[in-house]
Amino acid sequence: MTPPADLQADFVWWKHGVIYQVYPRSFQDSNGDGVGDIEGIIARLDYLVALGVDAMWISPIFRSPMKDFGYDISDHTAIDPIFGDLAAFDWMVRQAHARGLKVILDFVPNHTSDRHLWFLESRSNRTNPRRDWYIWRDPAPDGGPPNNWRSEFGGPAWTFDSHTGQYYYHAFLASQPDLNWRHPHVGQAMLDTLRSWLDRGVDGFRVDAIHHLFEDETFADNPPNPIWREGMSPAEQLLRTRTVDQAEVHGAVASMRRVTDAYDDNPVLIGEAYLPLERLMAYYGGAGEGFHLPFNFHLMTTPWRPQEIAALIEAYESQLPAHGWPNWVLGNHDRSRLASRVGRSQSRVAAMLLLTLRGTPTLYQGDELGMVDVPIPPDRVRDPLELNMPGLGLGRDPVRTPMPWSGEPYAGFSSTEPWLPLNPDWRDMNVARQIDDPASILSLNRALLRLRRSEPCLTRGDYRAHTVTDQLFAFERALGEDRIVIALNLGDSLQSFEAPRGLILLSTDPDRKAGSEPIAALRPNEGLIVRPR
Ligand code: NOJ
Repeated sequence: MTPPADLQADFVWWKHGVIYQVYPRSFQDSNGDGVGDIEGIIARLDYLVALGVDAMWISPIFRSPMKDFGYDISDHTAIDPIFGDLAAFDWMVRQAHARGLKVILDFVPNHTSDRHLWFLESRSNRTNPRRDWYIWRDPAPDGGPPNNWRSEFGGPAWTFDSHTGQYYYHAFLASQPDLNWRHPHVGQAMLDTLRSWLDRGVDGFRVDAIHHLFEDETFADNPPNPIWREGMSPAEQLLRTRTVDQAEVHGAVASMRRVTDAYDDNPVLIGEAYLPLERLMAYYGGAGEGFHLPFNFHLMTTPWRPQEIAALIEAYESQLPAHGWPNWVLGNHDRSRLASRVGRSQSRVAAMLLLTLRGTPTLYQGDELGMVDVPIPPDRVRDPLELNMPGLGLGRDPVRTPMPWSGEPYAGFSSTEPWLPLNPDWRDMNVARQIDDPASILSLNRALLRLRRSEPCLTRGDYRAHTVTDQLFAFERALGEDRIVIALNLGDSLQSFEAPRGLILLSTDPDRKAGSEPIAALRPNEGLIVRPR
């Protein structure tokens, strides 16, 4: 797991490392309740090491009523019993570190569960000292919500509390009240939770929904969204002008960063913000006092075509601040699976793109196997997004199904029926089947990760576009004298491409021999990595 010496010297781990997202409910169950847990993660650490990733980010494992599957936290410093306890957590961190794997936790600063002690106190009466830890407003003159703000999860973003006669604000579920970050004690209390996990040895945080942290102080209405159409999420009927990406957020991020910077070994701060590039860049902080890595989700929404992808990379690279390190994401627990979006064949090409671009890649659990969205029968739907707004294709259960580990009962994930259905083809499509098959997408991912680790040019080299046609996208990475060319055929027909003569380092096509044969064309759906002579 140790990177080459020259990488260690001047290059912190989160720049050369690859992050793997573990969705803990669906990674590995160890106690037969159909839900993954910490012991399960420990049992699979060797898989992650063999895969060749450097860090795991674990979606929330804190105490929670699980209305939003852990993103509704009722105690930030306790582990939910469904996942284990603090002793198991500490053991997991030690076991991960013993294998050279970093541990990144989710940090959810925008909201808590309505079962959190803070909110129970806040709603108990208007004079409670914690009243203003959350956002309370009087009803509008007609008794309705204070303004037109919408919840991301459907319906108004305001819920009336009859006991105290006011509405409270929630960007997500009514059971996820928003914290009021303008109250000084809120920031202090939340920063303390960061410290408590850093003291237990974690290596960083992925910070949830950061662009939602503040709302406009005047509580003015959000304007209508002119491009909203029937079939889109009702939340999108309005532009979120007053409810996301407010200026104060950057001060709060800098306060989180001051906390992590006070710890040794370079803990990383990663921010989740779905924003256009020009807004996203501000999350690095004007002088680098913001996130190390504001998640870059743009590859997930850019049409899978050479011109569009090349233009995105160009725009992203050129807008990065001088102190900003790039990063790329192709999937997560909230978005349709990569292989469903681009197709199974292209998902191999996409893996090559993700793992050869300049910047830290984040891989989502199961994408290394080429998993696709799993159809969920109506009686098995669990995601509140689908339950609240059925039939719009917003549900996230299809991308959160259990890891298929083997052909054993319940795919080796559990000894009982899992909380979400398995992929229907789990008997053939599983880790055990793929691990020894040199043609599998898992083997391709492992080869890509090995190559990335062994070639400083792929981690540190500059990015330059090379060739962009209707079907082909080629770019190069350059470090000193060293050059590596990556050529991707984004279509399913042969594409002529005169690769520079040199050594073929890897092809997505298992039949293509490594070596130095001259290349005049890319095969259908082929990606190729060449080191010119
Ligand atoms: C973003 C998380 O990724 C998502 O799963 C969650 O529902 C919302 N934030 C609310 O916390």
